[in-house]
Amino acid sequence: SKKHKVCIVGSGNWGTTIAKVVAENTQQHGDVFEPEVQMWVFEEEYQIPKDSKHASTELASKPQKLTELINTLHENVKYLPDIPLPKNIIANPDLASAVHDATILVFNLPHQFIGRICDQLKGKIVPYARGISCIKGLEVSDKGCQLFSDSIGAKLGIYCGALSGANIATEVAQEKFSETTVAYEPPSMDSQHPTPSGTPGGSPHGSHLDLTQLDGQIQRPTRGSQKQRLMALPAEYPPLHHTNMTKLFHRPYFHVHLINDVAGVSLGGALKNIVALAAGFVDGLGWGDNAKAAVMRVGIVEEVKFGKTFFGDSVRTATFTEESCGVADLITSCSGGRNFRCAKMAVKEGKGIGEIEARELNGQKLQGTSTAYEVHEFLRSEGKEGEFPLFTAVWRILEGEKRPEDVPDMINVEARKA
Ligand code: NAD
Ligand code: 13P
Repeated sequence: SKKHKVCIVGSGNWGTTIAKVVAENTQQHGDVFEPEVQMWVFEEEYQIPKDSKHASTELASKPQKLTELINTLHENVKYLPDIPLPKNIIANPDLASAVHDATILVFNLPHQFIGRICDQLKGKIVPYARGISCIKGLEVSDKGCQLFSDSIGAKLGIYCGALSGANIATEVAQEKFSETTVAYEPPSMDSQHPTPSGTPGGSPHGSHLDLTQLDGQIQRPTRGSQKQRLMALPAEYPPLHHTNMTKLFHRPYFHVHLINDVAGVSLGGALKNIVALAAGFVDGLGWGDNAKAAVMRVGIVEEVKFGKTFFGDSVRTATFTEESCGVADLITSCSGGRNFRCAKMAVKEGKGIGEIEARELNGQKLQGTSTAYEVHEFLRSEGKEGEFPLFTAVWRILEGEKRPEDVPDMINVEARKA
């Protein structure tokens, strides 16, 4: 029988960390997965810095391809320095060859790049592949506001779940204890490989099952449920039910909690990036922990409200209040996340956040600034800016219309009612 082949699409700070987690698990669970993990890398030349522990090697004499550095040193020297990677991770600059025959695609790259990558993936993946999106962001277009798990699923014609949690990448990479939330509602045929007529077995090439009688239509892309024609996994693969999905991500230092609320998981990860900017703004003023806590309180209220208003009743409040992807991610992101740190520095130094991002992050990308603009555009199109005062305040500060000092008044609901 066949084993699942895994490809990580992306290789930044979190992409490389998840590749490490997954590669440890594919080694351990050889009954379900092929050990080798392909990691697609957006190729670039990289000069090993003089203070690196690799500075005395030949590789440091001139800029090298990042894929060659990763495959030789077993370390992503640019985006995850000083973390040894399992040797079964293969860095690959060619997207089509990285995903070739992969039955599990883990999408993990800054959200602004995923649309173009999906366009390039069309026709290159096996039609019965399953996806997991680790991306924290939302896709806003004239169609509305979509989860990346849904938009990836729709563009590629596959089922795609989501992984998100209180997961500062470096801590996970250093194997410091963390929890995460995975939302994966396995298509019903994945547990037992039924044929369209309902008898077990299935064609080795996969078989189409219309789960929804919608014949391939996406019902309303903003709803967080994927209604589409999916192809069953061929029978020779191990089923991709909750147990096997958990085996892919769970480590002794990285505990997975599986739930079904895909929209809640994705929204917590996307929206907390806006809140983390607000927390950075007030911290940058030298205000105390009470100010930051106030921003976080309003932030979680707006996260839940956004979910309930735009993604319907399937979004559970408990996903935000009880799971790692909700309140815990908000706390960690407002303590040590990049959005928080850069927003704080921007206020302290009186500089633009883009300038701080370029100076401090060595090519890593903030997700909160573009998400604040995207969410604002969506709220404006829905006529609901006023109902989300914190999200709107962050946008107004980024636009230069308001100052961080104005945050208390902007989120003071009582004063706004008066
Ligand atoms: P990152 O911030 O390290 O971004 C750098 C990556 O972007 C590199 O791999 C680079 O090659 C790639 N890139 C640059 N230009 C590109 C282009 N034109 N096309 C494609 N790729 C390009 O990325 P990350 O930290 O891996 O973040 C990925 C996702 O994971 C984000 O949505 C982020 O919010 C989320 N996340 C990050 C962390 C974290 O601590 N870093 C934790 C949890 C979730
Ligand atoms: P930043 O992108 O702000 O670093 O947040 C990381 C994160 O998502 C932690 O869970």
